[in-house]
Amino acid sequence: MRARARAPGRVNVIGDHTDYTGGLVLPMAIGLATTVTVERGGDVVRLVSDQEPDPAVVPLRSPGPSPGQPAWARYVAAVVAEVAPPAGATGSVTTTLPPRSGLSSSAALEVAVALALGCDAPPREVAERCRRAEQRASGVPCGIMDQLTALVGVAGALLLIDCRSLDVVPVPLPDGVVIVGVHSGEQRALAGSAYAERRAQCEAAEAEIGPLRDATPADVTTLADPVLRARARHVVGENARVRAFAAAIAARDFAAAGALMAESHASLRDGFAVSTPGVDALVARLTAAPGVWGARMTGGGFGGVVVALCDAGAGAAVAEAFGGWAFTPSAGASVAVDG
Ligand code: GLA
Repeated sequence: MRARARAPGRVNVIGDHTDYTGGLVLPMAIGLATTVTVERGGDVVRLVSDQEPDPAVVPLRSPGPSPGQPAWARYVAAVVAEVAPPAGATGSVTTTLPPRSGLSSSAALEVAVALALGCDAPPREVAERCRRAEQRASGVPCGIMDQLTALVGVAGALLLIDCRSLDVVPVPLPDGVVIVGVHSGEQRALAGSAYAERRAQCEAAEAEIGPLRDATPADVTTLADPVLRARARHVVGENARVRAFAAAIAARDFAAAGALMAESHASLRDGFAVSTPGVDALVARLTAAPGVWGARMTGGGFGGVVVALCDAGAGAAVAEAFGGWAFTPSAGASVAVDG
């Protein structure tokens, strides 16, 4: 039986470092994607990649990623362990997603492999398994945003995701604007350990004031530790900004939406401390460019892609001038099976 699965990358327009405390995010699936084509059968998953010199070879009953495996094969092994498919598969992986850029190439790989191997659980369940696979493979205690976005993307819309209930509300992107992504050129080197530290700080704040999703700015001021207070203030403010941004987009108030992106970036830089000087400089240059309503870092931080809300008439020129992409909000993952 032959299967071909395709899963997109994502860009998060606003709402970062909120998903793992059950908060709000507003990402979209993009046109760049990973495709896995396999012939199912046997008791080994064997994939070659157009990006990698070494294949991924994973026995069906393997317990998960193992030392000495090529880095990308760890993701395949982790998905095999989480999905536990009844049969192996032999095939290939192709992708248009640049790795380590902050466009969730690893989530796209996990979702495409899971679907190619026949995982037909409901999308939220597939997303949970792929999130666990990401955690196993990378050691980073990530949230659900990237995997869920790859699965439930909607053409033409941003996704307002409640990471507590996993409810997804499409927010159509109006004709008047486009979302542009520009790579900062910085690889996300420190991302893993710093991410885990930030997550632990959020949990420490929650141990004192309860779920950050329910906390008010006044609750945050009761935290004695200044670092925990700064982290919690970011999360509480960011959840409010996601709601306000979705409303501004629906009302076509792009100036308000752009201002919220600027506030989000400042909060991630100063309160959550996950930006870099290079990313800050790129955000400033983009913000000053004609036709840009607002710009911010996106994703986990420490480099990678910066996202901008641009006037539709200016989007292509901004993407060209900065060597970036004008992204189209795209549909989520799909799989075709024949034979
Ligand atoms: C990474 C993680 C996501 C999310 C973002 C920050 O992309 O994989 O779960 O936490 O960082 O918003």
